[in-house]
Amino acid sequence: MAYDVVVIGSGPGGYICAIRAAQLGLKTAVVEKDKTFGGTCLNVGCIPSKALLHASYLYEEAEKDFAGMGIGVSKPKLDLAQMQKFKQEGVDGNVKGVDYLFKKNKIDTFQGVGKILAPGKIEVSGGGKTQTVETKAIVIATGSDVARLKGIEIDEKRVVSSTGALALSSVPKKLLVVGAGVIGLELGSVWRRLGAEVEVIEFLDRILPGMDNEIARQFQRILQKQGIKFRLSSKVTGIDSKGKTLKVTIEPAAGGKAETVEADITLVSIGRVPYTEGLGLKEAGVKLDDKNRVIVDEKFQTNVKGIYAIGDVIAGPMLAHKAEDEGVAAAENIAGKAGIVNHDAIPNVIYTFPEVASVGKTEEELKAAGVAYKAGKFPFTANGRAKVNKTTDGFVKILADAATDRVLGAHIIGADAGTMITEITLAIEFGASAEDIARTCHPHPTLSEAVKEAALEVDKRALSM
Ligand code: FAD
Ligand code: NAI
Repeated sequence: MAYDVVVIGSGPGGYICAIRAAQLGLKTAVVEKDKTFGGTCLNVGCIPSKALLHASYLYEEAEKDFAGMGIGVSKPKLDLAQMQKFKQEGVDGNVKGVDYLFKKNKIDTFQGVGKILAPGKIEVSGGGKTQTVETKAIVIATGSDVARLKGIEIDEKRVVSSTGALALSSVPKKLLVVGAGVIGLELGSVWRRLGAEVEVIEFLDRILPGMDNEIARQFQRILQKQGIKFRLSSKVTGIDSKGKTLKVTIEPAAGGKAETVEADITLVSIGRVPYTEGLGLKEAGVKLDDKNRVIVDEKFQTNVKGIYAIGDVIAGPMLAHKAEDEGVAAAENIAGKAGIVNHDAIPNVIYTFPEVASVGKTEEELKAAGVAYKAGKFPFTANGRAKVNKTTDGFVKILADAATDRVLGAHIIGADAGTMITEITLAIEFGASAEDIARTCHPHPTLSEAVKEAALEVDKRALSM
């Protein structure tokens, strides 16, 4: 059977690429090594983490905030097995959705490990058989895997990656998190809300490297107020798992006196690495960069004609929506259209409470590039809806070009920041100015009025503060 496109990997990059290719009339197939479709995102990433963030948030709300709103309930009881079932139902529903979409779009599927034999030829091994699939174009969408700490074995029981941390069957008394990145802070929040003592060990002298400094500082203060402890400029150098509790050795990042901390569970969340194992890239002559990422051109084609790559396996932020947009663009390019992705307008959201969201440039990046900019900042303490909801932590910051007023970046910390960042992403896509956002009518009373006020404040004329 010969195809126009075969996509290796069914994560958000791969399945969206396949659907777009099928929409464009290309005969399409997907190869997936795992039992279920959907990749990291649906099975062990975005979807299950958001289910637990949602459930644990409501649990804490019921415990701490209901009484103040006049809702009398007895102290909520945690049924973790049921919460895990709730999470799994969400995962299963999403995974089934991909299965349905493949059938609806007449996309063939092969279960097994895909290996590129040559341009146009993929070997699929699985279920005890090996077959060769022929195709005009190949899309590598094999995603990423957990980055490991040298000398520390992840057993997914006591020393866990995000996958194990999403599946714990009891609340740890003490959870030690290695890495103050997105996974550490989201999953640290889940287990803290459910009753764990959480301490985060971070190599750098700040949390969330790459995020706007001011936002990161305020976020750390808020998380500390919620009870999460931070140990910055520190590194974990060993874990002794012989005893009942883990004995974790921590040293200053720059070297110095070691200290031992006990923990029930240690979550290793120090980043993710591209997944290229067993793909036959070397033999096929596909070039990788120094971080093992597949190198592509602006059409997402590798150095080998007819072989494309998208998502976590190439450079750029490891985000599901970035993978999806690249999947669409790659399919369009394969079909002879002009598929592009604007990598300057990819939003980034951390789904804690409050949420943290950003798009475009940070102040630090603009300063480093010597770009003259104006900043408009508006706090949620001055927003009517935030006041009434008692969600006044945080602010909106919009950065615009000093000469043209064009929006260059935005950073929000606050309830629903992830939803609000979309309008600023659209503004950046359209090349809009801060004045354009400021003159757009925003519904009252909504948190989004803080976006309008921050845009007004770029010109130092906020109305409500
Ligand atoms: P993946 O989703 O990793 O899919 C790759 C697929 O390829 C997998 O199914 C794999 O089995 C398959 N595969 C690999 N090699 C082969 C082979 N040789 N043959 C056949 N199949 C193969 N991003 C967000 O945007 N928002 C979030 O809220 C978010 N939360 C996250 C939470 C966690 C805990 C984690 C770990 C990640 C999260 N991410 C989130 C990141 C997001 O999951 C990834 O960016 C996204 O899944 C990347 O999509 P992808 O299609 O490139 O790869
Ligand atoms: P990350 O890159 O976000 O953070 C890793 C952190 O670990 C950094 O702060 C880094 O300085 C630190 N670190 C690195 N080595 C260390 C060491 N030896 N000791 C102590 N600290 C160390 O990686 P994370 O959290 O593992 O997430 C991986 C990726 O998954 C993210 O980059 C993101 O793209 C994606 N993701 C996205 C989510 C979202 O969009 N909401 C949620 C979860 C994951």
